[in-house]
Amino acid sequence: MMDKIKLGIVGFGFMGHCDADMMETFDEIELVAVADTNPEQLKDAPAGVETYASIDELLANADVNVLMISTPNPSHPEMVKKAAAAGKHVICEKPASMSVAEYDEMVAACKENGVIFTVHQQRRWDKDYRVMKEVYDKAMVGDMYLIKSQLYGVNCKNRRYRRRASGGTDDPQISPSD
Ligand SMILES: NC(=O)c1ccc[n+]([C@@H]2O[C@H](COP(=O)([O-])OP(=O)(O)OC[C@H]3O[C@@H](n4cnc5c(N)ncnc54)[C@H](O)[C@@H]3O)[C@@H](O)[C@H]2O)c1
Repeated sequence: MMDKIKLGIVGFGFMGHCDADMMETFDEIELVAVADTNPEQLKDAPAGVETYASIDELLANADVNVLMISTPNPSHPEMVKKAAAAGKHVICEKPASMSVAEYDEMVAACKENGVIFTVHQQRRWDKDYRVMKEVYDKAMVGDMYLIKSQLYGVNCKNRRYRRRASGGTDDPQISPSD
């Protein structure tokens, strides 16, 4: 696909910081730039990483080939479409959109512009989730009529704050229902 992933992150809040920390552990990924409309959030950007006040500024100035969208959920469609139009591959935080129609538009925009689109649905790869999927796929416990899943240890101290980012959905529900 490409030699080195030159990454930009839009939305440098809770998850933007988590994404930055994780991405920087890979030799193949260089974090080039972060953007956030709240200047407070940019104050602890890693040394050498460019900071911008918007996705437009970042796209106009930063040499990135992949854009991570870590803004609140309702803004994802606009962000993904802008990134795709600028020829950037896109990783979007989950949930990617608030409706199937919006999601279809995001996929179409990425297809039209020949860029890869993926969603940061990372828990899908966790061992416990994979074991449960195998149990389900192989019908190992017969017919299932109820699956109960709970996340522990999630930082949900400020639920109101998190709900604002989610646009009404409760983020921790997204992984268990995946
Ligand atoms: N993959 C996961 O496990 C996981 C976990 C938590 C949250 N999320 C997702 O991450 C996304 C962000 O959630 P969060 O908890 O980090 O929220 P947050 O409020 O901490 O961060 C969002 C950031 O986006 C910025 N922002 C808002 N509008 C913007 C715009 N138009 N342009 C640029 N920046 C803008 C805000 O200033 C804020 O800093 C949501 O989609 C959420 O569902 C995913």
